[in-house]
Amino acid sequence: MSSNKTEIKLSDYQAPDFLINDVFLDFDLDLKKTEVLSVIKFIKNNSTAKDLVLKGENLKLLKINLNGDELDSNQFHISGDELTIKDVPDEFTLTTLVEIYPEENFTGEGLYKSGDILCTQNEAEGFRKITYYLDRPDVMAPFTTSLSADKKTFPYILANGNKLSEKVEGDRHTVVWKDPHPKPSYLFALVAGDLAKVTDKFITKSGKNIDLEIYVDPGNEDKCDHAMRSLMNSMKWDEDVYGLEYDLDVYMIVAVDSFNMGAMENKGLNIFNSAYVLAKQETATDHDFQGIEAVIGHEYFHNWTGNRVTCRDWFQLTLKEGLTVFRDQEFSSDMLSRPVKRIEDVQTLRRHQFKEDAGPLSHPIQPKSYIEINNFYTATVYEKGAEVIRMIHTMIGKDNFRKGMDLYFKRHDGQAVTTQDFVNAMADASGKNLDQFKLWYDQNGTPKLDVQTSYTDNKFIINLTQNSKIAGKDTVLHFPISLALLSEGGKIIHEKIYEITEKTTLIEVEASDQPVLSINRNFTSPVILNYENSFKDLTHILKYETDEFSKYDAVQVLYQREIKNLINSFKNNQNYDVNSHLLDSLKSVIENNNLDNAFKAYLFSIPTESEVNEWYEIYPIEESSKAIKVLKDTIAHSLFEAFKAIYDSISQDKFELDANSMGERQIKIIALSFMARVEESFDIIRAHYESANNMTDEFSALKLLHFNFKDQSKPFLEDFFYKWKNETLVMQKWLGIQASNPSVSINGLKKLEASEVYNNKVPNLIRAIIGQFANNVAGLNNFDGSGYDYVASKIIEIDKFNPQMAARLAKFLNHKDRLDPERKDKLVSVLETLKNNELSNDTFEVVQKNLKG
Ligand code: BES
Ligand code: ZN
Repeated sequence: MSSNKTEIKLSDYQAPDFLINDVFLDFDLDLKKTEVLSVIKFIKNNSTAKDLVLKGENLKLLKINLNGDELDSNQFHISGDELTIKDVPDEFTLTTLVEIYPEENFTGEGLYKSGDILCTQNEAEGFRKITYYLDRPDVMAPFTTSLSADKKTFPYILANGNKLSEKVEGDRHTVVWKDPHPKPSYLFALVAGDLAKVTDKFITKSGKNIDLEIYVDPGNEDKCDHAMRSLMNSMKWDEDVYGLEYDLDVYMIVAVDSFNMGAMENKGLNIFNSAYVLAKQETATDHDFQGIEAVIGHEYFHNWTGNRVTCRDWFQLTLKEGLTVFRDQEFSSDMLSRPVKRIEDVQTLRRHQFKEDAGPLSHPIQPKSYIEINNFYTATVYEKGAEVIRMIHTMIGKDNFRKGMDLYFKRHDGQAVTTQDFVNAMADASGKNLDQFKLWYDQNGTPKLDVQTSYTDNKFIINLTQNSKIAGKDTVLHFPISLALLSEGGKIIHEKIYEITEKTTLIEVEASDQPVLSINRNFTSPVILNYENSFKDLTHILKYETDEFSKYDAVQVLYQREIKNLINSFKNNQNYDVNSHLLDSLKSVIENNNLDNAFKAYLFSIPTESEVNEWYEIYPIEESSKAIKVLKDTIAHSLFEAFKAIYDSISQDKFELDANSMGERQIKIIALSFMARVEESFDIIRAHYESANNMTDEFSALKLLHFNFKDQSKPFLEDFFYKWKNETLVMQKWLGIQASNPSVSINGLKKLEASEVYNNKVPNLIRAIIGQFANNVAGLNNFDGSGYDYVASKIIEIDKFNPQMAARLAKFLNHKDRLDPERKDKLVSVLETLKNNELSNDTFEVVQKNLKG
């Protein structure tokens, strides 16, 4: 844990003094003590540079020599995490030998142990925990890696690239790997373990044969089919849509149980959190299957957008992540349902990114400074970053976007570049001026768009005013807005994508009768609309829009208004009855057989407590939870028969994974979740649980039992536990629903921590209990402050061995300024206590910003 809490600024960027022409690494692998020999060819990049400064953390330097001569102690020095070698020549080879201790490393960075597997994670700055290096993304080099290990403990020893040679000597074996593509150190990977291998082949469009290999813990071979199919679909999709082919002989994916993130795109050797690889119908939900497809796609797509063309520095992170999220979203849309995927993505954006952007951790998609880069792998850099790419796609169109991508690769293949370079390629290829558009990279806080309409003299007038800021100052952004006008009879009489470039924009459309406006269709821009349209207009959109996202969004506004009315009524001690016309509209939605089931299910997704709280300056914590309950209960009681009818009408004998079958399961579960609010449904849910032949049905029934019939759910939780206690991914779900139950107690959490399936060092398990609880609005914000205390105590504990995880948890404590005075006092004092601890850079940065507000 280094404690140089200095801020790094984008404006301070300087090109590296030295570049690297070639890297040879030789690992003598062992759990306790691994030796790393590195032979690196350096060349001066700045003629005035004298000293070479390398990064290194927790390394024991055993030997160091330059061009074959051992260096004596006045020719180099180590201070903090830097090794300086004085007065080096213009070109030279540096050889170092260091010792590292994987078994003692629980940070999830560098070389560490997951179960019995040795693996690495080097993004963003983990490579410096392996050897002394220019650990920055703008230093790219080809790597040759030789690995030696005990044959029995580590039958597979893998590194990036193609296999060059292998040999056996006694108990040990050695494999040499060569990656010819220059890469930054963050893409380096190695894995050693007693693994099972599942293989397939892919023939690229130019006829190259690629070996596909998925490595998992023995016993999990039967859970790799979906990951393999997803990989092949990704490879085909990138060829079809972008003309991009894979560029090595082998593509390897390794699944590990201890992983801080979802997965990592290391060149030719992706390392995955096992949650995003392993799935079979009995153990994984439909949501898990879809997650796997998306993450496999995402990491595969990085091979071009991230690896072949990488980031100049970490401020450019959205260059690869925003773009690659956009690409994985499009891939998933093509694999399943485009409208449903769009709804899901916008829902995620609003629930996570909008919230982040409204709080003390708000930042532009290209941050301008950081203490710890790990804190900037955020919903903003990823999801808002993807929306920014999507806006370019919307404005220049699919064909020009493809031309822009082609030009980007033509100009920058093998380079480390900036977000400017990307936008310039798009602008040059399409001929569209994107200068004003680039402000999106500097702006933070969700832009607001006020909409006012009037109708006179056969003219419909739309007045748009944007409110966007850069560093607190008003600014004017460039973005697309898709809109449609619907006639009284429900016909679309006008549709167009307008480009907004001014503070206020006036749009006039001829219309012989007063139309209904549907605006920001398909969510063409990531803004918050402020439009006081009528109940009638919204139900009109629900009924007649052809854009599914707009239908979904109209219902969201309707829910929002009901919830606000309810909260108002609680505050004023009045009565409020949920609008019966809304209930009628919802009834016709359920009964409409022309709607896709998955889409229909999303029309019933009611805003969450956390979303509702965000609508208010001060979170109305008790009231929002009560309002949501009243709304859901009212819908449940008034539409019970309709829900029951749809539930009974769908019967699935055979398990399939196509969009239609998943949609059927989804709508059944939504129906069941409303039915669960009516006492008599216990037996139906119980039967659903007992007759399930897949995890989607089994787990959602368990969750409904636990949330709606908590006292009676104990035997079901036990049954589930004994059935699945040897499947850690399933146990993570089991822990997760208990920690996210609003009525969970701190004692209950401690019991979960004491469970035999828990391990307090494994990130997925930490997320399952502490992460889920930190996200549990009622639990975390318990009036007595016990929720804040509990999370803070865990942050302190976890920060000692895994700062990255601790900092992620600390982000949940970012709402002091949105709390009532009593809660605010409690949270502030917890944050202050936290800050007075010895914290890592990661956690310090978050806690400090949370305290500042
Ligand atoms: N490059 C990241 C993984 C990463 C992030 C490693 C931060 C180390 C630090 C990878 O491509 C990624 O973005 N993974 C996502 C999943 C993806 C589908 C958005 C993740 O791990 O959450
Ligand atoms: Zn990524």
